[in-house]
Amino acid sequence: MLTDKFNRTHNYLRISLTDKCNLRCTYCNPVDLPRGYFSHSTKMSADEIEKIATAFVEQEITKIRLTGGEPLVRKDAREIIQRLSKLNVELAITTNGVFVHEYIDTFKTARIKAVNVSLDTLNKSKNQLISGRDEFNRVKENINLLLQNNFHVKVNMVVIKDMNEHEILDFVAWTKNENVHVRFIEFMPFAGNHWSSNKVFSYKEILNVIASTYQFSSLHHDKHDTAMQFKIPEYKGTFAIISTMSKPFCAGCNRLRLTTDGKMKNCLFSKSEVDILSALRRGENIVPLIQQCVLEKEEALGGQFNYFDGNLEASKIQNRSMINIGG
Ligand code: 5AD
Ligand code: SF4
Repeated sequence: MLTDKFNRTHNYLRISLTDKCNLRCTYCNPVDLPRGYFSHSTKMSADEIEKIATAFVEQEITKIRLTGGEPLVRKDAREIIQRLSKLNVELAITTNGVFVHEYIDTFKTARIKAVNVSLDTLNKSKNQLISGRDEFNRVKENINLLLQNNFHVKVNMVVIKDMNEHEILDFVAWTKNENVHVRFIEFMPFAGNHWSSNKVFSYKEILNVIASTYQFSSLHHDKHDTAMQFKIPEYKGTFAIISTMSKPFCAGCNRLRLTTDGKMKNCLFSKSEVDILSALRRGENIVPLIQQCVLEKEEALGGQFNYFDGNLEASKIQNRSMINIGG
């Protein structure tokens, strides 16, 4: 078991398949983000992903989530999904939803049960403003397709002040008749994403908005959960809040990350990275590197800041852009 010096055990790996995305969400992959995609040879091949994932599974990783960029823009995404489905893990994916209809059968045969889809607004023209592309109808259709096919669907909405906080109640209303699990995510700072303190709409603020209209109950909280989950009586779906900034959940963190260029990160906010891919290519045993990386994990937020209390200078945080880390 991959255990760190704070005695946290890690059974969940997020693998970024690509740093490319077909959308340009303002908070993640803005049009002015300096582009320097990883070249083909610096990215993990399908074969290398399988080998590295296998080493993690041997260290008792039981859940793998594929992320990006947008994982489904990768040409061999299907092959990677099929290969990873042979491992003894629960496989999941986070996607922007645009290509889901092309992959739904692959998801089924790979026994993927849970799909997270990013959608920050229920307004078509606003969606174009936020994501830079006109894919709203396609994404909504694909969410419906997933629901019809009984996938567990979480919809990730990054809440940003003056951008979409006025839609929180609309997203909650969506859970009335659909078995959809909405997750409101506090806006986090990453390289080049124009984050500022005054754009954060906090956990408390989100909950206050919802409490102004609804009565809801809190659902069971597992120590590894990154979200606080709630349910409105009689509603089919649920809603949750991911309070990374104002109320971090580092104490129960069980996650590790692998970037598309094969670097391991022990935290979304870690400064340091361990080059697993180069070691693999040199024919070395990567297990000690993985174990060492886990041991070096900081207690909270990559050791870079404390919880967000209204003030934080994002420029002091050293990290990649979100699209280069993998969400
Ligand atoms: N803050 C919060 N969430 C973000 N995501 C991408 N960038 C940010 C950010 N700066 C979300 C995406 C996706 C999930 C993996 O992370 O919307 O749903
Ligand atoms: Fe692409 Fe998702 Fe980032 Fe939007 S949030 S740019 S869909 S990776």
